[in-house]
Amino acid sequence: MSDSTFIGTSNRGFAQQAQEELRRLLGQSVKFEWLAPGEVFVFTSEFERSDAIGRILAQEPVFLRHIQPVDVEQLWDGSFDHAIRHIHEMLVARGASLKQMNVAVQARKAEGEALASLSLPTVRSSVEEMLATVEANPVSRDADFILSLYFTEVKLYFGLSRPQDNLSDWSGGAIRFRKEEGQVSRAKFKLLEAEQAFGLDLSQYRAALDIGAAPGGWTSLLLERGLRVTAIDPAKLDAALLRHPQLTYFPKKADEVSFAANTFDLLVCDMSWSHRQMARLVRGLLGALQPGGTAVITVKLMHKKAFQTIREVVSDLAPELELQQAKQLFHNREELTLFLMKQV
Ligand SMILES: C[S@@+](CC[C@H](N)C(=O)[O-])C[C@H]1O[C@@H](n2cnc3c(N)ncnc32)[C@H](O)[C@@H]1O
Repeated sequence: MSDSTFIGTSNRGFAQQAQEELRRLLGQSVKFEWLAPGEVFVFTSEFERSDAIGRILAQEPVFLRHIQPVDVEQLWDGSFDHAIRHIHEMLVARGASLKQMNVAVQARKAEGEALASLSLPTVRSSVEEMLATVEANPVSRDADFILSLYFTEVKLYFGLSRPQDNLSDWSGGAIRFRKEEGQVSRAKFKLLEAEQAFGLDLSQYRAALDIGAAPGGWTSLLLERGLRVTAIDPAKLDAALLRHPQLTYFPKKADEVSFAANTFDLLVCDMSWSHRQMARLVRGLLGALQPGGTAVITVKLMHKKAFQTIREVVSDLAPELELQQAKQLFHNREELTLFLMKQV
């Protein structure tokens, strides 16, 4: 059996949880080496590459945000020209498989003074130009292959993979959304990312209950998707939203409101509360969610008890809500996001 090496990335401060997940999926023999402590690490598994990827994808981890396979680990002297020469050699060696393919070049580097002068955009554009020599087309999205580069002070890691094998097709899993003019809050990115990560199409829903809605980033996205939205928050909702004809706003706490059974087919909750209190408040409103309805909920985390927190909140919301997926999104900070469905 030949082993395989990858670079794994989590949100900052949650790499230990990601490594724990990898031990569970790939066995205790998996080895780790830090590239950016708490965030980026190399891991080597005794499984061959496709086996290791298969095990990771079959049970998608919560905290491991991104993986990139390592084909070659090359010592380098820190000079740009040296790096480019090596990358060229590696590319030419794989030229046949890249012919006529759309290739996205993703480059990252370790933090620190020694690499301060290495410009990643320059690396990317040089490598993109180089793709012509193997008759491949440089693209930024919808690639057939991703060419991943990671630079440390002493090494250059090179890997070529299919986007679906990286957990995310964004460099390091750092998904970016464009900030819009007049955007109510950055929190909107969390729901946008959840929509993609959980394969939801929010426009398919009819009526949403948004608990802890202010200032209104999530509410604004749900309105944009064409839903009727009931927003609950004792804090003020953005004034521009209040005029929206599809919005009903209760400036109240979650335990001060109630709704008829089955009023909503979507419940979202983004309260920065302790997870047990949040679960208690959500439970109190679950009757209003129709059977088969969806819930998207942010859960506040304490680092040391991340897995316990997930277990507790899932058990507090059961049996009415069944967990579909838990994921720490790139836009989550000390939290993660749950996607649940109400039992039919
Ligand atoms: C992180 S913010 C929500 C951001 C929002 N999702 C957005 O996109 O703009 C958390 C909100 O939860 C609200 N909140 C806290 N306790 C609450 C409660 N008991 N009932 C309803 N809302 C509550 C706070 O007032 C705060 O506005």
